[in-house]
Amino acid sequence: MIGTRWTALAALLGACGMSVGTDADTGPGVRDTVVTVDEGSFPCITELSPVRRFYVGNLLGDLEATLDVARAPQGRAYPPGSLLQLVPFEAMVKREAGFSPETDDWEFFFLAAGPEGARIEDRGTTGVRNAFNGDCAACHTAAAGDWDWVCEQDHGCVDLPLTEEAIREVQAADPRCP
Ligand code: HEC
Repeated sequence: MIGTRWTALAALLGACGMSVGTDADTGPGVRDTVVTVDEGSFPCITELSPVRRFYVGNLLGDLEATLDVARAPQGRAYPPGSLLQLVPFEAMVKREAGFSPETDDWEFFFLAAGPEGARIEDRGTTGVRNAFNGDCAACHTAAAGDWDWVCEQDHGCVDLPLTEEAIREVQAADPRCP
């Protein structure tokens, strides 16, 4: 059932132009494909795939590869196209290899989300700030290495001033969701 749901989502994301690249963007060349990210790349957060507290997707259509890493007990590098969100207004996307050696190819996004969709307020590798004026990369770099910049609760990052309950509320209140 879950498989069907995600196949449908992958088709939907493809149709919205979320995975833009070569014709064979799910084929063997996927790792070399440029990861194009625009406002259409960020759907309703709960339509992504839940993993513990956060949600994942893959803009190149390789959701299974992203889920494999997200679910692995040990940290590993996320595949290109991986989209991670904890709250509707922040996202990190693993860009193509070589995009940003400084952030191991992660690009950070600060979003505004409304019923009509997401607007990109700021994006980049370093210097992007969240609603608490915290620098995404400066915080997430504490989890660089084994955990590939993914903080969760115990990968060395400074905690966010949000309880799990508050995170769940913010996720459920995403204005983009039907
Ligand atoms: C003060 C440090 C800090 C700042 C600044 C920060 N984050 Fe995080 N981020 C965290 C922590 C800690 C978690 C894990 C929270 C949890 O699971 O309860 C997290 C979780 C996430 C997640 C889910 C995956 C993960 O790493 O656990 C994403 C995606 C994310 N943040 C993106 C961003 C973006 C984009 C920005 C900037 C717009 C940002 N963060 C700014 C600390 C920070």
